[in-house]
Amino acid sequence: MLEALRPQPADKILQLIQMFKDDPRADKIDLGVGVYKDPTGLTPVMRAVKAAEKRIWETQDTKTYTALTGDPGYNGTMRRLILGDAVDDARLSSIATPGGTGAVRLAVDLAKMANPGATVWVSRPTWGNHISIIKFVGLPVAEYRYFDEAAGEVDFAGLTEDLGRVKAGDVVLLHGCCHNPTGANLTADQWQKVIAILKAQGALPLVDLAYQGFGDGLEDDAAATRAVAAAFPELLIAASCSKNFGIYRDRAGILIAVSADAGQTQVAQANLNFLNRQTYSFPPDHGTRVVMTILQDADLTADWKAELEETRLTMLRLRTQLAEELRKATNSDRFDFVARHRGMFSRLGLTESQVDRLRTEFGIYMVGDSRINIAGLNSATVPVLARAVAAVL
Ligand code: LMR
Repeated sequence: MLEALRPQPADKILQLIQMFKDDPRADKIDLGVGVYKDPTGLTPVMRAVKAAEKRIWETQDTKTYTALTGDPGYNGTMRRLILGDAVDDARLSSIATPGGTGAVRLAVDLAKMANPGATVWVSRPTWGNHISIIKFVGLPVAEYRYFDEAAGEVDFAGLTEDLGRVKAGDVVLLHGCCHNPTGANLTADQWQKVIAILKAQGALPLVDLAYQGFGDGLEDDAAATRAVAAAFPELLIAASCSKNFGIYRDRAGILIAVSADAGQTQVAQANLNFLNRQTYSFPPDHGTRVVMTILQDADLTADWKAELEETRLTMLRLRTQLAEELRKATNSDRFDFVARHRGMFSRLGLTESQVDRLRTEFGIYMVGDSRINIAGLNSATVPVLARAVAAVL
């Protein structure tokens, strides 16, 4: 029977990891997968994470099952971190999930259970795995314009026009902050316009919040999600702790459902529990326990916030430097948008053959759509990238 299986296309981002490993050049530069790296190239374990792990190791006396939701303490602290007090707790249900991807997957499953006729709208472009997951779950995907490639900015006219075609009961996937792959984000005013359109259309927002703290700061990066949550009777939020806690391999995420009232919250919670049970039973505990331990302790929280802020500011400095170096190397302001973008990624607007040349001739690895991971750079490699980009233009 298994001979009936067909080969699957390799994920473009994950494929790059292997190609980079296989490249023998010592001066190669990895701007592929979205993983933070410090200036020495290491993805560090954050100080507060180490301290929390030590505390857990010293005090944990059982590894028996927790709950289908994951630890209630994790759910509570994460809900607050993401939503503040934007929504009454009585309208919130949630489950811990294996990473943000687990949350996205179950969110789409839940949407299909609620409305099998829904179309899921994603930005063009979006994270490739969004489209892959939605199709795999079996819902149709539609795209709304998002990015003006020539300007390196949000195509707001195209976006609002396309969102005007969303049907009642459709799901609209929104990047809460730090848009992946473009790095171009909506202003607060534009978010309000998007909210007004989606409300008028009767859409269900699904906010993917994978980079809270990597853009303008922990609170600012949650502002759009909170504005959406405050405006809609119902929505879904898929969030990740991979990046802002640096616990990529531990797989900690959360899926939050906001319901219209307390009665519907109970039903939503039962469905979330059911989804966890059907998919992998209990969600992984270690990463979520680390997050909860940090968020329940004032000192650990303060240290985590301080280190996260250092991380964010490092990426911002790299953005400024890269925009300047590209200006010098190309003698144009074509790439100035890099300094205005936020988060780990920017899309440079290069052709696929230019991206190929950067890899083969210069050992610089980026995703085929010319998305770069800013955190893969350091102050010494920024000018190297800028000169190489100028050379392939
Ligand atoms: C990325 O976009 O590089 C990250 O979200 C990692 C991944 O799983 O693709």
